[in-house]
Amino acid sequence: MHPLRSLVLAAAGNDAIRRLVATAPVSRDVVRRFVAGENTADAIRVTRELTGSGRKVTLDHLGEDTQDAEQAERTVQAYLELLDRLHAEGLAPAAEVSVKLTAVGQQLSERLALDNASRVCAAAEQCGTTVTLDMEDHTTTDSTLRVLAELRRTWPSTGAVVQSYLRRTLADCVALADSRVRLVKGAYAEPENVAFGRHETDLSYVRCANALLAGNGYPMFATHDPRLVRIVGERARWYDRKPGTYEFQMLFGVRPDEQRRLAQEGETVRVYVPYGSQWYGYLMRRLAERPANTVFFARALVSHS
Ligand code: FDA
Repeated sequence: MHPLRSLVLAAAGNDAIRRLVATAPVSRDVVRRFVAGENTADAIRVTRELTGSGRKVTLDHLGEDTQDAEQAERTVQAYLELLDRLHAEGLAPAAEVSVKLTAVGQQLSERLALDNASRVCAAAEQCGTTVTLDMEDHTTTDSTLRVLAELRRTWPSTGAVVQSYLRRTLADCVALADSRVRLVKGAYAEPENVAFGRHETDLSYVRCANALLAGNGYPMFATHDPRLVRIVGERARWYDRKPGTYEFQMLFGVRPDEQRRLAQEGETVRVYVPYGSQWYGYLMRRLAERPANTVFFARALVSHS
């Protein structure tokens, strides 16, 4: 692991650094670049801005690894409130929600996660939009796919996420290729027996993309990698996929110029927008991905402290 990456991930667990980041004026700007804000109104404001520039949105209420049912319930309530607002503001056709099952009780019981996710799916349907189930570390994959299959019996458009770094994923893509699937590289530290290294992960991404494009589903290619964006575009043309039968996805604040460029070329581009009071861990992961961001951020913090 890059030394800066380990440093930033260590900082993610440090209370003194957390306080500094939360209060330093400069970090407010950095936070705002990657996180819409703490509440529903912030999420709606950013959604309106992004959809106004021709991009679609998927909203993530930040928080994962919920260890108690009350916290899971608060997360469900946050999604219900958000969906109501999206509907009321006429934003639902261009904005869906992303849900992490561990945030709605998966660590407590799969049944609780299913019940809670069902409530979010039912509300999303009423509001005229959809839900995608984020994928977390590999120990949750089977459970998440079981919950997904159950949800799809009532809400077939519920989105799946598959991670190309997992050795199992090509088989999952083949099985899911007739449905709505987001393909990502994968964001968790996984052991070698289940996950590929960097280069193999990229090759796997292309193999998985081919499997999804060959199906009759709606693939969603989530990556900022310029090489993969180009290859996916070429493969989509090779499979005679018209724009609108698949989409690109990127994170809020990451390569915004590229997001706009793709949208202007007629591609469907969806931006993953996190919001909520638990932004700190998310921000640290984004910084850890890009050493250049970290250096800039650390310098700015030091000069303001
Ligand atoms: P990677 O990080 O390997 O970067 C490849 C290249 O992309 C870089 O060399 C650079 O050129 C460019 N690049 C990347 N980041 C950049 C930046 N900040 N600025 C400029 N250029 C940059 N993961 C997961 O496990 N479960 C999930 O449910 C999701 N969901 C999800 C949704 C969406 C919409 C996205 C975009 C991502 C996810 N992820 C995820 C995260 C995903 O697994 C992965 O960790 C990140 O997308 C980073 O991988 P990339 O494919 O962007 O390439």
